[in-house]
Amino acid sequence: SVLKSRDVKGVAEYMKSDQCRKVFVMAGAGISTSAGIPDFRSPETGLYHNLQRLNLPYAEAVFDIDYFRENPIPFYTLAKDMDPSKFRPTITHSFFKLLDKKSLLKMCFTQNIDTLERRAGLSGDKIIEAHGSFAANSCIDCQEPYEEEKMKIAVEKGEPARCASCGGLVKPEIVFFGEGLPSSFFSTVPQLRTGDLLFILGTSLTVMPFAGICKLAPPSCPRVLINLDAVGDLGSRPDDVLLLGDCDGVVRELCKELGWLEELEDLWAE
Ligand code: OAD
Repeated sequence: SVLKSRDVKGVAEYMKSDQCRKVFVMAGAGISTSAGIPDFRSPETGLYHNLQRLNLPYAEAVFDIDYFRENPIPFYTLAKDMDPSKFRPTITHSFFKLLDKKSLLKMCFTQNIDTLERRAGLSGDKIIEAHGSFAANSCIDCQEPYEEEKMKIAVEKGEPARCASCGGLVKPEIVFFGEGLPSSFFSTVPQLRTGDLLFILGTSLTVMPFAGICKLAPPSCPRVLINLDAVGDLGSRPDDVLLLGDCDGVVRELCKELGWLEELEDLWAE
């Protein structure tokens, strides 16, 4: 076991040792809830519990490619409320930036489509947006890119955009159920095998293949879960640490233990 204790103190001590050089992050919607963006599966507040108005056969259909082909209206209706530009990164996003500043961060794998990792200052080569983002739009049939300005108008009107060359439906390049993840995800994921520390934050670890990659961390790599509740197989290994609670609060606690709290707050205030 590389950790002296499976708590904030143990993790901080390990992070300050020479053994801990390559840190990886896996993130999900729970890291953005304090920014005002609902997650998907939390009871009451989660997006999937609040889609009655869209009359879907089941909640996840709104992000299902086969359903979208038949009926793109629910997604377009939802997209109107999902404009990520109106939200600000959280202290947890700034923590990733701080890990990078300390030359510890190897890669941040995120399921989030809100681009808040980038907006917290993390550079593109440290982020894998495994489920894509709203940053680009294209035709689902011929993949022809679609202009952002025209897309904004379509979303605003709630009228699905059509490709100028083939007439196919246009959608943002977020990964729907039934679509493949970007090739950058598959080419980068093996790096996890070289990790010294893995943080898993704000995710229910229910959606594959993303959820499965936490198993790639070698046994010598502590896996630290920062989440409201226990998820996946976290806790099954001797060096798994469960820091259950609000991620911003836990991140502050950890940074306090590291002596980084002031620097973290400064980064966040920037
Ligand atoms: P989920 O909504 O499934 O899970 C969010 C997790 O974060 C839950 O375990 C919550 O308890 C936890 N959580 C919420 N707020 C938190 C907070 N303030 N601090 C700590 N934990 C908190 O979201 P994801 O796991 O990201 O896919 O969902 C995975 C994928 O399912 C998404 O990328 C999306 C969705 O369908 C696509 O849209 C393609």
